[in-house]
Amino acid sequence: MVLPMYIFGQPVLRQVAEEVEENYPDLKELIKNMYETLRNSEGVGLAAPQVGLPIRLFIVDLDCLSEEHPEFKGYLKTFINPEIVELSDEQVSYEEGCLSVPGIHENVKRPKRVLLNYLDENFEEHEEWFDDFPARVIQHENDHLDGKMFVDRLGPLRKQMLKSKLVAMTKNKFSASYKCKPNK
Ligand code: NI
Repeated sequence: MVLPMYIFGQPVLRQVAEEVEENYPDLKELIKNMYETLRNSEGVGLAAPQVGLPIRLFIVDLDCLSEEHPEFKGYLKTFINPEIVELSDEQVSYEEGCLSVPGIHENVKRPKRVLLNYLDENFEEHEEWFDDFPARVIQHENDHLDGKMFVDRLGPLRKQMLKSKLVAMTKNKFSASYKCKPNK
């Protein structure tokens, strides 16, 4: 089932999300629906707050890029209660967008590598380094669990230039190709 996307302006996107317990109701079904929602919106990452749930869970699907990037074939990863253990000193700038901030794409500077501790969909613990593009997606999604969005990481000038677009978004003035939950 495709879930409606929560858009900039929804309070849940600004909440610090709660840890997920192993007995969280219908977790497998939720994860399945999140993958379906992500595929439907042609994104590469989706965090639970973006579908209205303030819990520490996000998914990454890079398989959709595998035609051009064969190294991402079958790259579907679920992250539960992730924690950043270490970030590289080296930073890189790259264009980001967000399904909750439709129509805005901006360069964001982030560490090139991240060491992440997390549970997978079977609640097995992993500690793993991610580099480059996966590291970027993971850091972006992990921000969502702390109520942060990529536009927060822009410089003051870029923020100022985007302000009216973001305000419009909170009033449901934007266009997206996927189902969205209207802002109140
Ligand atoms: Ni996002």
